[in-house]
Amino acid sequence: MSVIQFPKDFVWGVATSAYQIEGAAFEDGRGPSIWDTFSHTPGNIIDDENGDVACDSYHRLDEDIALLKELGVNSYRFSVSWPRVIPDGTGKVNKKGLQYYENLVDQLLEHGIEPMCTLYHWDLPQKLEEKGGWDNRDTIDAFVEYANVMFERLNGKVKRWITLNEPWCASFLSHYIGEHAPGNQDLQLAVNVAHHLLMAHGKTVQAFRELAVEGEIGYAPNVTWLEPYSRKSEDMEACRRGNGWFIEWFMDPVFKGEYPAFLTNWFADKGITIPLKDGDLEVISQPVDFLGINYYNGNLARHKANSGLFDVENIDAGYDKTDFDWFIYPDGFYSVLLYVKKRYGNIPVYITENGACYDDVVENGRVRDEQRIAYIKKHLIALNRCLESGVNIKGYHVWSLLDNFEWAYGYTKRFGIVHVDFQTLKRIPKDSYYWYQKLIRNNWFTI
Ligand code: NOJ
Repeated sequence: MSVIQFPKDFVWGVATSAYQIEGAAFEDGRGPSIWDTFSHTPGNIIDDENGDVACDSYHRLDEDIALLKELGVNSYRFSVSWPRVIPDGTGKVNKKGLQYYENLVDQLLEHGIEPMCTLYHWDLPQKLEEKGGWDNRDTIDAFVEYANVMFERLNGKVKRWITLNEPWCASFLSHYIGEHAPGNQDLQLAVNVAHHLLMAHGKTVQAFRELAVEGEIGYAPNVTWLEPYSRKSEDMEACRRGNGWFIEWFMDPVFKGEYPAFLTNWFADKGITIPLKDGDLEVISQPVDFLGINYYNGNLARHKANSGLFDVENIDAGYDKTDFDWFIYPDGFYSVLLYVKKRYGNIPVYITENGACYDDVVENGRVRDEQRIAYIKKHLIALNRCLESGVNIKGYHVWSLLDNFEWAYGYTKRFGIVHVDFQTLKRIPKDSYYWYQKLIRNNWFTI
């Protein structure tokens, strides 16, 4: 038996996002977002579901806070719904919306839980989409206006801020692959959106410093790790492009003030350009206080001509998969964190999401989700190896507290450590909840 021990002040948390859990989509003055429009358009979401009710957390805040308290986490990562606070995206502020988040934060603080507040987890106000959305540079200023409203209201209470969640998803998955709102399939548009999201990030960091908001600010890109199937240079380069789409594309501009040439050249060959204006890269590369990392999966991969955007093909090497068909690859978690450290320096890192979806069942009031526990354990072992190797990881957040609205997959993919019955909205902590509770109490676990 070995003991996996974590540092004394390690931050343990869970994560959620507004559209996935809140519900109350048309209440108390909330405006519509692109996710309301997208999910209400038939054919976009499995079973034509939507987040109108989701976990109804908006009305069940006390119950959800009690779950957090009982769990013993010292950090809760949530997101603010921009159209709940500024229904039209810019202009009039909705007092009830702001009040909801202040109340949430106050309750967390009362229970000794640090709020980690994400400003953008994909629910762009529909009104802004109608003016061109993230393709329009005006959206950048609208975002900063909204961020300022949040900073002013929650300064001194929220000490950890995240500008963007998974900008890859908000750009490429939403505007090139078309699986997420607003469902476009246009590579040039996706590149524009990615650039403008990074601009919104940089300008928000500037605003944070100008207002001298207390605490730290960062952002949370999602990464994966493709390990070359062989050391053949074409396999290695293919994997580099596949990884770089998530890592370098979204981190080089922030940490190095430039886009990665190995990808800009690849895009240029396809006639794709970045809508760069003078001074943009200085804005984007404002120093951040920490880097959030969302990691779920990785794999072996190799070069294959005309396979996807980057001529890279995944290999089925027999690794186990979660119910999302994502390969479970904890070594990739280790590799990607070491790679990021090597490329960008030893910036403080919070794991802002990691978790697994399984088709859990309730039996006699209990959910025995051993596979999720095994997944989390494996990734925490990898994380522990990173700590031993000197990566500056400050904390870890399980995705997610609750089973919730899993975007295009509706309610068919359960990631929670708390089971939610979507008919009755009853919450049942799963075995993984109790396992995590014990880990947090001890700050170690055994294998
Ligand atoms: C990342 C996203 O941030 C979150 O919204 C999503 O539910 C999880 N991954 C699982 O897919």
